[in-house]
Amino acid sequence: MVSKSKPGVYSKKYHISKRTNQLSPSGIRKFFDLLASIEGVISLGVGEPDYATPWHIVESAIESLEKGQTMYTSNLGMPELRQELARYLHHHYDLQYDPNTELLITVGVSEAMDLAMRAILDPGEEVIMPDPHYVAYDACVILAGGKAVTVPTYEEDGFELSAADVEARITDKTRAIFIGYPANPTGAVMSREKMGEIAEVAKHYGLLVVSDEIYAKLVYGVEHTCVAALPDMREHTILFGGFSKAYAMTGWRIGYAAAPKEIIAAMTKIHQYTMMCASTMAQVAAIEALRSGEESAAEMVEDYGRRRLVMVKGLCDIGLSCFEPKGAFYAFPSIKKTGMTSEEFAEALLKEEKVAVVPGSAFGDCGEGYVRCCYATSMADIEEALARMKRFVSKHQRS
Ligand SMILES: Cc1ncc(COP(=O)(O)O)c(C=O)c1O
Repeated sequence: MVSKSKPGVYSKKYHISKRTNQLSPSGIRKFFDLLASIEGVISLGVGEPDYATPWHIVESAIESLEKGQTMYTSNLGMPELRQELARYLHHHYDLQYDPNTELLITVGVSEAMDLAMRAILDPGEEVIMPDPHYVAYDACVILAGGKAVTVPTYEEDGFELSAADVEARITDKTRAIFIGYPANPTGAVMSREKMGEIAEVAKHYGLLVVSDEIYAKLVYGVEHTCVAALPDMREHTILFGGFSKAYAMTGWRIGYAAAPKEIIAAMTKIHQYTMMCASTMAQVAAIEALRSGEESAAEMVEDYGRRRLVMVKGLCDIGLSCFEPKGAFYAFPSIKKTGMTSEEFAEALLKEEKVAVVPGSAFGDCGEGYVRCCYATSMADIEEALARMKRFVSKHQRS
């Protein structure tokens, strides 16, 4: 997120670049650090599966280490992994990517986003994105010298992005539309129809759609629309995908970008001087995840689906109105009835009831009045957190 504090706030002693000064520390991390210092906290804070990585995936990495597979890989990533990924994208979305030129294995989607923004933006160029959005989207744009232009989205529209609102913000400096559905923090999923409208705008104005589809597998009773698979969109899309969420592999730091070869070549130039390659053992694990991880991923998603229902019902029963999330693993209830800001709510809830949630304002102005509750935690913890929140809300409810 962009800092609202004065530039130069971190630079009293050392010169810190203006670009870096524009950023404030992630609102998610802040709560993560705070809760680590308090005992007995139930965390609905960090967006991370509570599962360990499925054992067959871990084992494949252990075996590779035992065999001494500890060297750098190709900058693009291991050929077997790129081939497996090409097969995966073809199987799921009927998309054809050349594994030798159009796929890049990265250190998580996080690195892929950074590379993409640095590869496509010149100073002052604009990227349109929904508000609220995942905290890194605008940060990557700023660090690349660009400008993030936000489009408000609202609970009453299911937090979907309107193509007309996007179109209204296009200028001669606009280069891309940066989206991420299923969405963090709202759990929104764009319908194929609405996504198609965004795609038409992108094609009409010759813009790229930068699409973070890290939660693609985490949908509940609705379909995920892959932007690149919409008619003629492959040439207009930088697609990100990852292993962190669906395969419970956050700590492995592995993800990928799929895009036309000119874009992958530009991203690879930056990647080869900064990361060189993603971790070798994580790449081996990712091959196993793609080859044999479907079943364990599906089991986890089924379980998240059950927790989602309990979380949403629980929040509504407390009286915190909650838009029904259709994807990812977040609920985004409104806390407006308490009269607190989302930051005040999250801080007081943590102090008084030891439940950690993330203030919606960490994700943009439209997140104010909401908090993000991650339900990728045990059912017992969800139920206890809801009981504590109920006590908290009845104490703070405005009469
Ligand atoms: C929407 C979204 N994109 C990207 C990431 C980062 O993914 P990775 O672990 O692959 O870097 C996250 C992590 O929370 C996320 O929520």
